[in-house]
Amino acid sequence: MTTIKAIRIEKTGGPETMALKEVELGNPRPGEITVRAKAIGVNFIDTYHRSGLYPVQLPSGIGMEAAGIVEATGEGVTQFTKGDRVAYASGPVGAYAEAHNVSAASAARIPDGVSDEEAAAMMLKGMTAQFLLRQTFRVEKGQTILWHAAAGGVGLIACQWAKHLGATVIGTTSSDEKAKLARAHGCDHVIDYTKEDVAARVMEITGGKKLPVVYDGVGKATFLSSLDSLAPLGLLVSFGNASGPVTDVNLGILAQKGSLYVTRPTMYHYAAKTPTAFQEMADDLFAVVKSGAVKIEINQRYSLAEAARAHLDLEARKTTGASVLVP
Ligand SMILES: NC(=O)c1ccc[n+]([C@@H]2O[C@H](COP(=O)([O-])OP(=O)(O)OC[C@H]3O[C@@H](n4cnc5c(N)ncnc54)[C@H](OP(=O)(O)O)[C@@H]3O)[C@@H](O)[C@H]2O)c1
Repeated sequence: MTTIKAIRIEKTGGPETMALKEVELGNPRPGEITVRAKAIGVNFIDTYHRSGLYPVQLPSGIGMEAAGIVEATGEGVTQFTKGDRVAYASGPVGAYAEAHNVSAASAARIPDGVSDEEAAAMMLKGMTAQFLLRQTFRVEKGQTILWHAAAGGVGLIACQWAKHLGATVIGTTSSDEKAKLARAHGCDHVIDYTKEDVAARVMEITGGKKLPVVYDGVGKATFLSSLDSLAPLGLLVSFGNASGPVTDVNLGILAQKGSLYVTRPTMYHYAAKTPTAFQEMADDLFAVVKSGAVKIEINQRYSLAEAARAHLDLEARKTTGASVLVP
């Protein structure tokens, strides 16, 4: 048992519900490791846990991702020993803390050449890009794809990766500054979805062919324009709710718009597909980062005590790339 500082919520709500508190961290249970955080990744999912969109058991910690040093290992853990540099991207929620106990199966050793901050900024976002681009729909050379919120944390990683795979990448953003950043990170075309008609621009860019796949982490605000951007039999990959969740869909709309497919995937199901899936996805991610094809942009840094400001900025669309908390 050790005393640590951690962000806690007693009730769900706005960023002000998060407070830095002293808490007792127990010893790791069988199969767990204690990771002393060097850098903590901020993700949109953390705002869903805080707001109550994704239910958590209260009182709760916040945060799913961090990089640091293994401080202790639970019974049965053979792949890590004290002092190893690791990163994780999984529950239980509570990564916004000086140290946290996580399942060893959901952690990966950080390779040389990847910094703690980069690892914390890329595990959840980069493994999401991995399963979306390599598993949910396997992007191939010559295809044209659409990625919403291209200048965001997942967006900047995914657009570079898709470009590296040989795709023509269309990104959406909400400002000229973000559009510039998206262009510098793999986007061949950028649409300002706050001003332009996305489906009409996609028609124009593709010469009327439209797209085999749309990746949409924005949700409610973009759902219809995403469907309208797909060619018949195309796939909408709806992987997030930055503008609110998509609800009350009449499935008939998929027939009307071209016998379309929709999936609502989460990283955790892909990472749990096989006992080695998490490590394989991490290896694939580390390989594209180490090759230089995908660069990790950390454009916001906050102290652990400033977690509320990190959420305010993320939800107000003020951030680009990844944000990290430094304990
Ligand atoms: N399914 C999974 O396993 C999985 C895993 C990781 C992440 N995700 C999802 O991936 C998405 C991106 O996550 P992230 O952490 O990288 O966040 P992010 O993209 O850095 O931030 C979200 C972005 O969404 C855009 N946006 C559009 N409408 C918005 C609104 N009403 N409020 C706030 N933002 C809005 C903003 O970009 P513009 O200003 O350019 O519009 C904003 O910067 C999220 O939906 C997240 O839940 C899913």
